[in-house]
Amino acid sequence: MDKILINGNGPLNGTIAISGAKNAALPLMIASMLSEESLILENVPRLADVESLIRILENHGVDYRVEGKRRGKSGMSGRTIHFSASEIVDTTAPYELVSKMRASFWVIGPLLARMGEARVSLPGGCAIGTRPVDLFIDSLAAMGADISIDHGYINASARNGLIGTRYRFPKVSVGATHVLMMAATLAKGTTIIENAAREPEVTNLGECLNAMGAKVSGLGTSTITIKGVEKMHGARHRVVADRIETGTFAMAAAMTGGSVYLQGVQPHLLQTVLDKLVEAGATIESDNGGIRVSRNGSALKPVNITTEPFPGFPTDLQAQFMALMTRADGVSEITETIFENRFMHVQELARLGANISLDGQKATVTGVENLKGAQVMATDLRASVSLVIAALVAEGETAVNRVYHLDRGFEMLEEKLSACGARIERIRE
Ligand code: EPZ
Repeated sequence: MDKILINGNGPLNGTIAISGAKNAALPLMIASMLSEESLILENVPRLADVESLIRILENHGVDYRVEGKRRGKSGMSGRTIHFSASEIVDTTAPYELVSKMRASFWVIGPLLARMGEARVSLPGGCAIGTRPVDLFIDSLAAMGADISIDHGYINASARNGLIGTRYRFPKVSVGATHVLMMAATLAKGTTIIENAAREPEVTNLGECLNAMGAKVSGLGTSTITIKGVEKMHGARHRVVADRIETGTFAMAAAMTGGSVYLQGVQPHLLQTVLDKLVEAGATIESDNGGIRVSRNGSALKPVNITTEPFPGFPTDLQAQFMALMTRADGVSEITETIFENRFMHVQELARLGANISLDGQKATVTGVENLKGAQVMATDLRASVSLVIAALVAEGETAVNRVYHLDRGFEMLEEKLSACGARIERIRE
């Protein structure tokens, strides 16, 4: 299994082009199933999760074609991929495919909306928490779907089509909002989703659905209205820049005390995070093309965070911020409210010399003067990259094992960091 070796050294300096967001690309690819015509997605990142979802979509009958390199683009530019679901040939998403990636469960929305039926394997638990699917079942049932569960599968049907409804989510869910929004595009009548997720990836999906002929309004607010249409058509749409990748590199720059320009970023999509970085002692300057994150000489200050749905501090950056706080000059508190088991990085950061104590959903981090390289591994992708951030300033060599987690969600991580001066390399085994 591949591993990444990092030798802690000086500050990061340079420019990093931010990739398209994994968590936007996945639902956008799934949305291609809503139309017989092609959906062309630009700025799709090269990630293992994208490849896995392509396999799943192929099984339903979706064709895809990757455009070759275009003049003026580099090998690092996001890819343009054409998805064409002229005919859905299979409405079952089998366990072997769905169990690899939870987001693939979301095919239930387009399958039900376009075909009136779906049989989708339950995704099961995963490392960061139990992650149930009750909100999907309740909300689709509210639209008139008949739903039963047997042998680990959800069977959903709506032979006469889904019916618009007013549905209030008891809890904010990104995935359930994606699915209900997609399902409602082809329903009869109007659907009003209350307590909808406001994440930029939801907005990006809604904009794409509108480009495909849907009538979605209220994006970015907690009430989204979808007027059902008869048919959706083809469109061309760009995957929004990855705010989690942006935040990750911003924390790496703040950790190492360098100055890094993050290209292609929309700062308002991670304002809460940038504010916390400024509190911690970083300087952020934005212009039309992106943001510059630097920290010159000043000590890292301890800052408390609590994860929340957007626009709050994202759970997907909690591990990385904790890594940063391991070197702060004092004690910080990190509270996780979205997933019940998202502290697996704590024991691995401790292997690098961090001083962290856990009490339920709260971690107390006492900053230390030095971290020391060690063998580490992590069980999810954000936890893995938090170890990379810590390793950038640790004395000596750190080996991050189980690199496939990083490959699921970070495009060309080693190339991007080494271009800014990091000593990082992949060992293929
Ligand atoms: C999305 O997961 C992201 N994944 C996650 O990113 C992210 O951490 C999460 O949203 C929160 O921002 C993708 O976009 C592919 P949720 P999702 O439904 O949609 C509970 C990463 O590292 N819940 O918003 O699965 C759930 O257990 C990943 O890139 C129910 O109780 O998350 C959690 O506590 C990991 N019942 C909370 O809601 C349900 O039916 C929020 O989860 C559904 C969810």
